[in-house]
Amino acid sequence: MSTINKCLFPAAGYGTRFLPATKAMPKEMLPIVTKPLIQYGVEEAMEAGINGMAIVTGRGKRALEDHFDISYELEHQIAGSDKEGLLEGTRRIMNRCSFSYTRQVEMKGLGHAILMGRALVGQEPFAVILADDYCVNPGESVLTQMVGLYEQHQCSIVAIEEVPHAETYRYGVIDGVEESPGIFRLHDMVEKPQPEDAPSNLAIIGRYILTPDIFEIIEQTPPGKNGEMQITDALLTQAKEGRVIGYKFKGRRFDCGSVEGYIDATNYTYQLQS
Ligand code: G1P
Repeated sequence: MSTINKCLFPAAGYGTRFLPATKAMPKEMLPIVTKPLIQYGVEEAMEAGINGMAIVTGRGKRALEDHFDISYELEHQIAGSDKEGLLEGTRRIMNRCSFSYTRQVEMKGLGHAILMGRALVGQEPFAVILADDYCVNPGESVLTQMVGLYEQHQCSIVAIEEVPHAETYRYGVIDGVEESPGIFRLHDMVEKPQPEDAPSNLAIIGRYILTPDIFEIIEQTPPGKNGEMQITDALLTQAKEGRVIGYKFKGRRFDCGSVEGYIDATNYTYQLQS
Protein backbone atom coordinates (compact mmCIF):
# COMPACT_ATOMS: atom_id res chain seq x y z
CA MET A 1 0.00 0.00 0.00
CA SER A 2 1.38 3.35 -1.02
CA THR A 3 1.38 6.38 1.29
CA ILE A 4 -0.39 8.22 -1.50
CA ASN A 5 -3.88 6.87 -2.13
CA LYS A 6 -5.45 9.42 -4.44
CA CYS A 7 -4.52 10.99 -7.71
CA LEU A 8 -6.22 14.13 -8.97
CA PHE A 9 -6.62 14.72 -12.69
CA PRO A 10 -7.50 18.29 -13.60
CA ALA A 11 -9.31 17.78 -16.89
CA ALA A 12 -11.63 20.69 -17.42
CA GLY A 13 -9.59 22.61 -20.01
CA TYR A 14 -10.92 23.29 -23.47
CA GLY A 15 -8.02 21.95 -25.54
CA THR A 16 -8.39 24.78 -28.03
CA ARG A 17 -5.10 23.91 -29.73
CA PHE A 18 -6.73 20.75 -31.01
CA LEU A 19 -9.88 22.26 -32.48
CA PRO A 20 -11.93 21.05 -34.22
CA ALA A 21 -11.06 17.61 -32.74
CA THR A 22 -11.83 18.85 -29.23
CA LYS A 23 -15.06 20.65 -30.06
CA ALA A 24 -17.24 17.85 -28.68
CA MET A 25 -14.54 15.59 -27.22
CA PRO A 26 -12.32 16.18 -24.17
CA LYS A 27 -8.66 16.66 -25.07
CA GLU A 28 -7.81 14.00 -22.47
CA MET A 29 -9.56 11.48 -24.74
CA LEU A 30 -7.16 12.14 -27.63
CA PRO A 31 -5.47 8.80 -28.29
CA ILE A 32 -1.76 8.10 -28.43
CA VAL A 33 -2.11 5.35 -31.05
CA THR A 34 -5.20 3.60 -29.59
CA LYS A 35 -5.19 4.57 -25.91
CA PRO A 36 -6.50 7.92 -24.67
CA LEU A 37 -4.19 10.24 -22.76
CA ILE A 38 -6.27 9.97 -19.59
CA GLN A 39 -5.81 6.19 -19.54
CA TYR A 40 -2.03 6.52 -19.70
CA GLY A 41 -2.29 8.87 -16.72
CA VAL A 42 -4.50 6.50 -14.74
CA GLU A 43 -2.17 3.59 -15.49
CA GLU A 44 0.79 5.63 -14.29
CA ALA A 45 -1.03 6.38 -11.03
CA MET A 46 -1.94 2.71 -10.62
CA GLU A 47 1.66 1.68 -11.13
CA ALA A 48 2.56 4.07 -8.32
CA GLY A 49 0.26 2.10 -5.99
CA ILE A 50 -2.66 4.54 -6.15
CA ASN A 51 -6.20 3.31 -6.70
CA GLY A 52 -8.36 6.35 -5.99
CA MET A 53 -8.74 8.43 -9.15
CA ALA A 54 -10.31 11.86 -8.68
CA ILE A 55 -11.14 13.65 -11.90
CA VAL A 56 -12.02 17.34 -12.14
CA THR A 57 -14.09 17.64 -15.27
CA GLY A 58 -16.07 20.37 -16.95
CA ARG A 59 -18.89 20.78 -19.41
CA GLY A 60 -18.73 18.41 -22.36
CA LYS A 61 -16.47 15.90 -20.61
CA ARG A 62 -18.87 13.02 -20.11
CA ALA A 63 -16.77 10.78 -22.35
CA LEU A 64 -14.20 10.62 -19.53
CA GLU A 65 -16.71 9.03 -17.18
CA ASP A 66 -18.01 6.69 -19.86
CA HIS A 67 -14.48 5.54 -20.66
CA PHE A 68 -14.01 4.13 -17.17
CA ASP A 69 -17.39 2.43 -17.12
CA ILE A 70 -18.80 -0.77 -18.60
CA SER A 71 -20.19 -0.52 -22.12
CA TYR A 72 -22.53 -3.51 -22.07
CA GLU A 73 -23.59 -3.36 -25.69
CA LEU A 74 -20.06 -3.03 -27.03
CA GLU A 75 -18.61 -5.66 -24.71
CA HIS A 76 -21.38 -8.09 -25.61
CA GLN A 77 -20.72 -7.41 -29.28
CA ILE A 78 -17.01 -8.23 -29.13
CA ALA A 79 -17.20 -11.06 -26.55
CA GLY A 80 -15.40 -14.13 -27.86
CA SER A 81 -13.87 -12.25 -30.80
CA ASP A 82 -10.22 -11.32 -31.30
CA LYS A 83 -11.14 -7.76 -30.27
CA GLU A 84 -12.05 -8.74 -26.72
CA GLY A 85 -8.48 -8.31 -25.49
CA LEU A 86 -8.43 -4.67 -26.55
CA LEU A 87 -10.59 -3.74 -23.58
CA GLU A 88 -8.56 -5.74 -21.08
CA GLY A 89 -6.62 -2.66 -19.95
CA THR A 90 -9.72 -0.65 -19.09
CA ARG A 91 -11.31 -3.65 -17.39
CA ARG A 92 -8.23 -4.11 -15.22
CA ILE A 93 -8.38 -0.44 -14.23
CA MET A 94 -12.07 -0.64 -13.38
CA ASN A 95 -11.51 -3.74 -11.23
CA ARG A 96 -8.75 -2.12 -9.21
CA CYS A 97 -9.63 1.57 -9.02
CA SER A 98 -12.43 3.74 -7.83
CA PHE A 99 -13.31 6.91 -9.70
CA SER A 100 -14.81 10.09 -8.38
CA TYR A 101 -15.69 13.19 -10.33
CA THR A 102 -16.44 16.80 -9.72
CA ARG A 103 -17.03 19.64 -12.11
CA GLN A 104 -15.05 22.83 -12.35
CA VAL A 105 -17.81 25.23 -13.27
CA GLU A 106 -15.60 28.20 -14.07
CA MET A 107 -12.13 28.17 -15.64
CA LYS A 108 -10.05 30.01 -13.06
CA GLY A 109 -6.71 28.28 -13.47
CA LEU A 110 -4.91 25.12 -12.37
CA GLY A 111 -4.86 26.18 -8.70
CA HIS A 112 -8.64 26.54 -8.83
CA ALA A 113 -9.05 23.16 -10.55
CA ILE A 114 -6.99 21.52 -7.80
CA LEU A 115 -9.01 23.30 -5.13
CA MET A 116 -12.19 21.89 -6.70
CA GLY A 117 -10.74 18.43 -6.09
CA ARG A 118 -10.59 19.01 -2.35
CA ALA A 119 -13.90 17.26 -1.66
CA LEU A 120 -12.65 14.19 -3.54
CA VAL A 121 -9.19 14.09 -1.99
CA GLY A 122 -9.81 14.97 1.67
CA GLN A 123 -7.08 15.73 4.19
CA GLU A 124 -4.31 13.50 2.91
CA PRO A 125 -1.31 13.95 0.64
CA PHE A 126 -2.21 13.31 -2.98
CA ALA A 127 -0.75 13.15 -6.46
CA VAL A 128 -1.69 15.32 -9.43
CA ILE A 129 -1.28 14.24 -13.04
CA LEU A 130 -1.81 16.59 -15.96
CA ALA A 131 -2.67 13.99 -18.58
CA ASP A 132 -1.45 16.09 -21.48
CA ASP A 133 2.09 15.80 -20.15
CA TYR A 134 2.62 12.24 -21.31
CA CYS A 135 5.59 10.62 -19.54
CA VAL A 136 7.40 7.44 -20.43
CA ASN A 137 10.23 5.59 -18.76
CA PRO A 138 11.44 2.03 -19.32
CA GLY A 139 11.92 1.56 -15.54
CA GLU A 140 9.73 3.03 -12.80
CA SER A 141 7.14 5.53 -13.99
CA VAL A 142 7.64 9.20 -13.11
CA LEU A 143 4.92 9.14 -10.46
CA THR A 144 6.34 5.95 -8.91
CA GLN A 145 9.68 7.70 -8.59
CA MET A 146 7.98 10.67 -6.93
CA VAL A 147 5.99 8.56 -4.46
CA GLY A 148 9.28 6.94 -3.40
CA LEU A 149 10.73 10.39 -2.83
CA TYR A 150 7.65 11.50 -0.88
CA GLU A 151 8.13 8.57 1.48
CA GLN A 152 11.59 9.91 2.33
CA HIS A 153 10.80 13.63 2.52
CA GLN A 154 7.07 13.93 3.41
CA CYS A 155 6.66 17.26 1.64
CA SER A 156 5.30 18.55 -1.66
CA ILE A 157 7.19 17.46 -4.77
CA VAL A 158 7.13 18.81 -8.32
CA ALA A 159 8.59 17.07 -11.36
CA ILE A 160 11.05 19.29 -13.20
CA GLU A 161 13.03 19.16 -16.41
CA GLU A 162 15.40 21.43 -18.31
CA VAL A 163 13.77 23.35 -21.14
CA PRO A 164 15.29 25.76 -23.66
CA HIS A 165 15.64 29.21 -22.03
CA ALA A 166 13.46 30.76 -24.72
CA GLU A 167 10.53 28.56 -23.62
CA THR A 168 10.32 29.45 -19.92
CA TYR A 169 7.17 31.51 -20.62
CA ARG A 170 5.26 28.24 -21.11
CA TYR A 171 5.97 26.76 -17.67
CA GLY A 172 6.26 27.24 -13.96
CA VAL A 173 10.00 27.76 -13.43
CA ILE A 174 11.91 27.00 -10.23
CA ASP A 175 15.01 27.98 -8.34
CA GLY A 176 16.55 25.86 -5.63
CA VAL A 177 19.55 24.15 -4.12
CA GLU A 178 20.51 20.74 -5.47
CA GLU A 179 20.74 18.71 -2.25
CA SER A 180 21.57 15.46 -4.00
CA PRO A 181 21.78 14.66 -7.71
CA GLY A 182 18.50 15.68 -9.35
CA ILE A 183 16.81 16.61 -6.05
CA PHE A 184 16.37 20.35 -5.42
CA ARG A 185 15.07 22.09 -2.31
CA LEU A 186 13.10 24.93 -3.85
CA HIS A 187 13.11 28.53 -2.66
CA ASP A 188 11.57 30.25 -5.66
CA MET A 189 8.94 29.42 -8.26
CA VAL A 190 7.56 31.71 -10.96
CA GLU A 191 4.60 31.00 -13.22
CA LYS A 192 5.39 31.41 -16.92
CA PRO A 193 8.18 34.02 -16.73
CA GLN A 194 9.70 35.61 -19.81
CA PRO A 195 13.23 34.21 -20.34
CA GLU A 196 14.83 37.38 -18.94
CA ASP A 197 12.84 37.02 -15.69
CA ALA A 198 13.20 33.27 -15.29
CA PRO A 199 15.21 32.13 -12.24
CA SER A 200 16.51 29.07 -14.19
CA ASN A 201 15.56 26.89 -17.12
CA LEU A 202 14.17 24.16 -14.86
CA ALA A 203 10.48 23.87 -15.66
CA ILE A 204 7.69 22.20 -13.72
CA ILE A 205 5.94 19.50 -15.67
CA GLY A 206 2.57 17.96 -14.96
CA ARG A 207 3.33 15.64 -12.05
CA TYR A 208 2.93 16.82 -8.46
CA ILE A 209 2.64 15.37 -5.00
CA LEU A 210 0.94 17.86 -2.70
CA THR A 211 0.42 17.94 1.03
CA PRO A 212 -3.20 18.73 1.98
CA ASP A 213 -2.44 22.13 3.53
CA ILE A 214 -2.09 23.27 -0.09
CA PHE A 215 -5.89 23.69 -0.29
CA GLU A 216 -5.97 26.43 2.34
CA ILE A 217 -2.92 28.05 0.81
CA ILE A 218 -4.60 28.12 -2.61
CA GLU A 219 -7.63 29.81 -1.04
CA GLN A 220 -5.41 32.48 0.47
CA THR A 221 -3.25 33.07 -2.61
CA PRO A 222 -4.29 36.03 -4.77
CA PRO A 223 -4.81 35.44 -8.51
CA GLY A 224 -1.53 35.43 -10.44
CA LYS A 225 -0.54 35.11 -14.09
CA ASN A 226 -3.46 35.88 -16.42
CA GLY A 227 -5.67 36.64 -13.40
CA GLU A 228 -5.88 32.89 -12.65
CA MET A 229 -5.33 30.93 -9.44
CA GLN A 230 -1.92 29.38 -9.98
CA ILE A 231 -0.72 26.23 -8.21
CA THR A 232 2.82 27.55 -8.72
CA ASP A 233 2.04 30.61 -6.54
CA ALA A 234 0.49 28.46 -3.80
CA LEU A 235 3.50 26.13 -3.84
CA LEU A 236 5.78 29.14 -3.44
CA THR A 237 4.33 29.64 0.05
CA GLN A 238 5.38 26.09 0.97
CA ALA A 239 8.73 26.54 -0.80
CA LYS A 240 9.54 29.59 1.33
CA GLU A 241 9.22 27.29 4.34
CA GLY A 242 11.55 24.75 2.71
CA ARG A 243 8.69 22.34 2.09
CA VAL A 244 8.90 21.75 -1.67
CA ILE A 245 11.25 19.48 -3.58
CA GLY A 246 11.88 19.71 -7.31
CA TYR A 247 12.72 16.33 -8.81
CA LYS A 248 14.49 15.90 -12.11
CA PHE A 249 12.72 12.71 -13.08
CA LYS A 250 14.10 9.81 -15.05
CA GLY A 251 12.25 9.40 -18.31
CA ARG A 252 10.93 11.39 -21.18
CA ARG A 253 8.03 13.81 -21.35
CA PHE A 254 5.93 14.67 -24.39
CA ASP A 255 3.95 17.90 -24.30
CA CYS A 256 0.69 16.56 -25.68
CA GLY A 257 -0.93 19.93 -25.06
CA SER A 258 0.77 20.97 -28.31
CA VAL A 259 0.15 19.39 -31.69
CA GLU A 260 3.87 18.88 -32.27
CA GLY A 261 4.43 17.10 -28.94
CA TYR A 262 1.35 15.00 -29.54
CA ILE A 263 2.60 13.86 -32.93
CA ASP A 264 6.05 13.09 -31.45
CA ALA A 265 4.41 11.00 -28.70
CA THR A 266 2.31 9.17 -31.26
CA ASN A 267 5.30 8.35 -33.48
CA TYR A 268 7.40 7.27 -30.50
CA THR A 269 4.69 4.99 -29.13
CA TYR A 270 3.78 3.54 -32.51
CA GLN A 271 7.41 2.65 -33.15
CA LEU A 272 7.69 0.99 -29.74
CA GLN A 273 4.64 -1.13 -30.48
CA SER A 274 5.53 -2.21 -34.01
C1 G1P B 1 0.53 24.25 -15.99
C2 G1P B 1 1.20 24.96 -14.82
C3 G1P B 1 2.67 25.21 -15.11
C4 G1P B 1 3.36 23.91 -15.50
C5 G1P B 1 2.61 23.23 -16.65
C6 G1P B 1 3.16 21.85 -16.93
O1 G1P B 1 0.46 25.13 -17.08
O2 G1P B 1 0.52 26.17 -14.55
O3 G1P B 1 3.30 25.77 -13.98
O4 G1P B 1 4.69 24.18 -15.88
O5 G1P B 1 1.21 23.05 -16.34
O6 G1P B 1 2.57 21.29 -18.06
P1 G1P B 1 -0.46 24.85 -18.37
O7 G1P B 1 0.32 23.93 -19.25
O8 G1P B 1 -1.72 24.23 -17.85
O9 G1P B 1 -0.68 26.19 -19.01
